Amino acid sequence: MSEFQGRRIVLGVTGGVAAYKAAELTRLLVKADAEVDVVLTAAGARFVGPASFQALTGRRVWQALWDERMDNGMAHIDLTRGAAALLVAPATADFMAKLAHGFADDLLTTLCLARDCPLLVAPAMNRQMWENPATRRNLAQLRADGIGILGPAHGEQACGEVGEGRMLEAAELFEELHASMQVKLLRGKRVLLTAGPTFEALDPVRGLTNLSSGKMGFALARACVAAGAEVTLISGPVNLPTPRGVQRIDVRSAAQMRDAVLAAVPGQDVFIGVAAVADYRPRDASEHKIKKGSGAFTLELEPNSDILAEVAASGEAPFCVGFAAESRDLAKYAEGKRVAKKLGMVVGNLVQDGLGGDSNAVTLFDAAGAHPLPAAAKSDVALGIVAHLAKLLETFRGHD
Ligand code: C5P
Repeated sequence: MSEFQGRRIVLGVTGGVAAYKAAELTRLLVKADAEVDVVLTAAGARFVGPASFQALTGRRVWQALWDERMDNGMAHIDLTRGAAALLVAPATADFMAKLAHGFADDLLTTLCLARDCPLLVAPAMNRQMWENPATRRNLAQLRADGIGILGPAHGEQACGEVGEGRMLEAAELFEELHASMQVKLLRGKRVLLTAGPTFEALDPVRGLTNLSSGKMGFALARACVAAGAEVTLISGPVNLPTPRGVQRIDVRSAAQMRDAVLAAVPGQDVFIGVAAVADYRPRDASEHKIKKGSGAFTLELEPNSDILAEVAASGEAPFCVGFAAESRDLAKYAEGKRVAKKLGMVVGNLVQDGLGGDSNAVTLFDAAGAHPLPAAAKSDVALGIVAHLAKLLETFRGHD
């Protein structure tokens, strides 16, 4: 089930070129089953008209303090009542200035002042406006007032200049909003994860790998950030963008992954091995491309070390979580792995239910037994895993 289902988001749109991204954000929110009330300022409406937002949300847009739809004439107060969040994207320098000083001279600024839900703003402006001391002062004031600041990003600007001040992309804002709505179950925790496949070189162009997409590990890293953790993600070769707020280290082989993990593990509270690490590597990787011969070709393999088992067996081991992707007898193998590798929890799934796809059906195995989670998108499965992990951490005093 989507976190946004049945939740109402008030989206304020002020007058910046980035307003077109607000239309895309609206589409993403509606697709996630959120109810979206769009509040357009006069300048915002010059960039994207109300008809676009009305078509996307199926609701009429709010533009005036004197809107007659509210029987009590109190749109400036009632619109945020019961809302999950008020997000202003784009937020211009002018809007930030007004907000910092408590102006209330149109519907959006009045709503911000009268809100009873979290307020997030996504600045969008030319780099010099962003760096201007006046904007810096206003920014510091907004932060001090507990307002969430999303971005801005560094990049090309509509004016042709390059620098800080570009509004985050719609998908990034969606992710930030989603994260802001999560309970901070892992606040103050440091989480290290591995994800994706490994690649064991045979020669400069060939190697042994597997079909892991990395999607589950990346979704879990994202969910840990959303739950307030400080996250390091060590990834094998995947084609996925780095989740916001995650420190990512790219590796290729299992041996490189092991070295990166062992270097990063001191000081971590949790280690989650999601990567599909190759059990074996070619004994001798050829420096040059292996040439075709006439007869059979025999490949000699040697074992890789089990990274997760090694971390779990070390002194001062963090809380260790493993994944078990099995093609049959899930409970037997997953629970067996949990005990053999001395793990706090194993996330088990049947390969036919998860590998490479966007959804997954998993069962969590811990000392108390098996806890099946409903089949869902990997992003929702990740939230379920984090919730269970947070509960187990409450009583964790170190592995035996
Ligand atoms: O024993 P199996 O490979 O099925 O165990 C899977 C779990 O162990 C996963 O969590 C995986 O990330 C981890 N693993 C590891 N290093 C290996 C093999 C598996 O960390 N060499």
